[in-house]
Amino acid sequence: MITYTPMHNVDYYTRHLMNVNKYNRVFIKENIFDSGGILLLKKGTDFDLGVAEKILQARLLKPIDECIDIVSPLNGITIYKRINSIIKSYPFLERMHHFANINMVLKQQCVALERYPLLIQKLTVQQLQQPDEFDNAVLCAWFCLGIGKQLHLTTKQIHNVFLAALVHDIGMLHINPLILTCDGELMAAEWKTVQSHVNHGKKILDRIPGLAPTVARAVLEHHERCDGTGYPAGKIGDELCVEGRIVRMCDAIMAIVLKEVNIENRAYINLIPFLQFNMEPNFCEIYEVTMKWIRNIGYTENRYVPDNEVETLIDKVFCEEYFLKGWHEVIHSLAEAVPVEEQNGSLKVIIKASGQLQMILSGLEEVDIRNIKWASRDKENKSEVFAEIEHVYMMLKEVRWELRYLTRKLKLIYDELGNTNDSLACQFNLAFERLDKLNAGYHSYEFHHKSTDLH
Ligand SMILES: [Fe+2]
Repeated sequence: MITYTPMHNVDYYTRHLMNVNKYNRVFIKENIFDSGGILLLKKGTDFDLGVAEKILQARLLKPIDECIDIVSPLNGITIYKRINSIIKSYPFLERMHHFANINMVLKQQCVALERYPLLIQKLTVQQLQQPDEFDNAVLCAWFCLGIGKQLHLTTKQIHNVFLAALVHDIGMLHINPLILTCDGELMAAEWKTVQSHVNHGKKILDRIPGLAPTVARAVLEHHERCDGTGYPAGKIGDELCVEGRIVRMCDAIMAIVLKEVNIENRAYINLIPFLQFNMEPNFCEIYEVTMKWIRNIGYTENRYVPDNEVETLIDKVFCEEYFLKGWHEVIHSLAEAVPVEEQNGSLKVIIKASGQLQMILSGLEEVDIRNIKWASRDKENKSEVFAEIEHVYMMLKEVRWELRYLTRKLKLIYDELGNTNDSLACQFNLAFERLDKLNAGYHSYEFHHKSTDLH
């Protein structure tokens, strides 16, 4: 449960600037006027609490980011060095970096960033205020560069995709930090607020002179999906620009590297089930070049679960599969319960996406899960079989992620329904109750297993 009081018209970027001023001096670089033309703040003033309060209470003539400067901001070389230092901390990525031979072009792209002072400002604020998002963005930009090269994109396209990747989440600087750092499940309205970061990002980029419109478009579309289940517009396939699709895929892959591989010590091979799961049928080139890149550098770490823990993993696979089938059944039957004439575009794509998940779940069940117990007794090919079990488990994790996403989308639809349709609202309520029960059962299973592990 979030404990903040929602406020309207609050510019969270102003608060970030006030905090940045504690580390790097932020000052007013030109007189600031309110929308009525009255002088509000004089050039040269430091961006402290008093300034922030004045700005938050007024309507400005110009956006605040165009009226301030930061002393010692990031520059092309500091960004280049940060990317290199992150890559160096992951031997696997370092090998990819050398194999693709992109160091020189990376440096050039970073230096070229200095053409856009507003982007440098946003990245400086992001590094200080949202350092994880910043690291994710620079790594994503590096990865996009490698993919762009291997897709033989033009120099201009590579520049645009690099820029778009680097700034794809700067819109988050305009979202309430309390929502972004909330641990629990977000309410529909809060999720909508988080989603608006793509619109904030586009609006910022639209104001930058000399920037190709594709960059802003790619940022706007970096959460769209080719099946129409993405946001903000629910566009499909060819309606999406190539740059946006590359950013989306690379962002997701780098998030796995930073979260799963780094923190949970997963093997890099676990990126492969993710890639297979997320391969876009009408744009599989990204999948193919990523797979080729990973294969070419040769991965040695092909397992992450020790042999003596495989039995527990098999149990988890069965439990997970049972749980996910139940979850899928609830959301699929809810979506289908809505009369066809009342199904809007969002609901139709949810039904379709849910059908795809059903196929994946059935495929996993028939081909892999039934054979797991039997195959795990095969002493000859133990390592291969165990790797396969890990693979299935990772696929199930992807199914879980997708189900969570579709459930959130259904909650948004429910939220939009309001009081307009009582019988439909009742069906949604019942389905969400069933999901709560299912979740409680799953967590008690998990808890039981964790406590028996301790004895
Ligand atoms: Fe994003």
